[in-house]
Amino acid sequence: MKTIFSGIQPSGILTLGNYLGAMKHFVPLQDQFNCFYCIVDQHAITVPQEPAVLRENIRRLAALYLSVGLDPNKMTLFVQSEVPAHAKLGWIMLCTSYLGELERMTQFKDKSDGRGESIPGGLLAYPPLMAADILLYGTDFVPVGEDQKQHLELTRDLAARFNNRYGDIFTIPEVRLPETGARIMSLAEGTKKMSKSDPNQGAFISMLDDADTITKKIKRAQTDSDSVVRYDKAEKPAVSNLMTIYSLCSGKTLDEIEAMYEGKGYGAFKTELAEVVVETLRPIQERFEQLFHSSELDDILTAGANKANKVANEMLYKVEKVMGMARI
Ligand code: AMP
Ligand code: TRP
Repeated sequence: MKTIFSGIQPSGILTLGNYLGAMKHFVPLQDQFNCFYCIVDQHAITVPQEPAVLRENIRRLAALYLSVGLDPNKMTLFVQSEVPAHAKLGWIMLCTSYLGELERMTQFKDKSDGRGESIPGGLLAYPPLMAADILLYGTDFVPVGEDQKQHLELTRDLAARFNNRYGDIFTIPEVRLPETGARIMSLAEGTKKMSKSDPNQGAFISMLDDADTITKKIKRAQTDSDSVVRYDKAEKPAVSNLMTIYSLCSGKTLDEIEAMYEGKGYGAFKTELAEVVVETLRPIQERFEQLFHSSELDDILTAGANKANKVANEMLYKVEKVMGMARI
């Protein structure tokens, strides 16, 4: 069985975009692959975090992963900082990297822009830690968005560089981009990605928004002036985005949705879209409420960390041995 590894940062509450574009696709993968899903808290601290907020975000993300249908009997869910091998191999990967290639990373350039002399060192060391995450598990595939492709390329380079010097230790991982059409746009601006860090709360639906909030946000969502429910990404990006959400949440095709609302205008469409979204998130939110404060969640994370530690330590030992660090 091939191995999949993916990491999500515990920063902010996940959006409907995260769910429809990423998390939902993780669920069927657990039946076909040996899956490791990691809450990458050590990546989150590359920028300052409020301790109480970080603690809550880690737990919330763990509960959300399980609430969408990931099954602890089928996959491994764990918190990065509970598996020390990540930091250890991260250091080794940092020592395998060149300053030039780290400084070339677009995410580093974006996040360090305007910080002058005070660029956190962790922002530069971020991709080697990500490489370590992936390489510890002999990962074959990494499902990530377009924005992470460059980090994946670097991971492959570092793995190959290490293998060249020390022998065939690491599996060279491949990126697995999500299927097309899964990019959900902002409710305020149909040409901008829906993002949990959008300062406008009305621009995104959080996975934990209640029914009233969801309905209000959808009612206020951007449309256009011709009042026709028709899919046309170029001319009607906002309405097309709402139709995509409708389709992904209801299973209906875009043509079916167009036919359903012919001659009815946006009012009826938005009312029913809100119902469809509420019904999609309802079972997830119910399961979330049960899990969030439960000891079951702690047990799942403990078991996940135990399993991950076992696999990761074996790889770390191999690496340290060929490098001359482990006593043999
Ligand atoms: P982020 O929230 O940017 O850390 O992304 C976490 C995962 O969710 C990545 O795999 C993204 O590609 C995916 N994702 C984030 N926002 C969206 C969106 N608006 N539409 C589709 N997928 C998204
Ligand atoms: N860098 C990824 C992001 O910002 C998160 C991440 C960390 C990750 N380690 C990973 C993703 C390993 C995939 C595999 O979204």
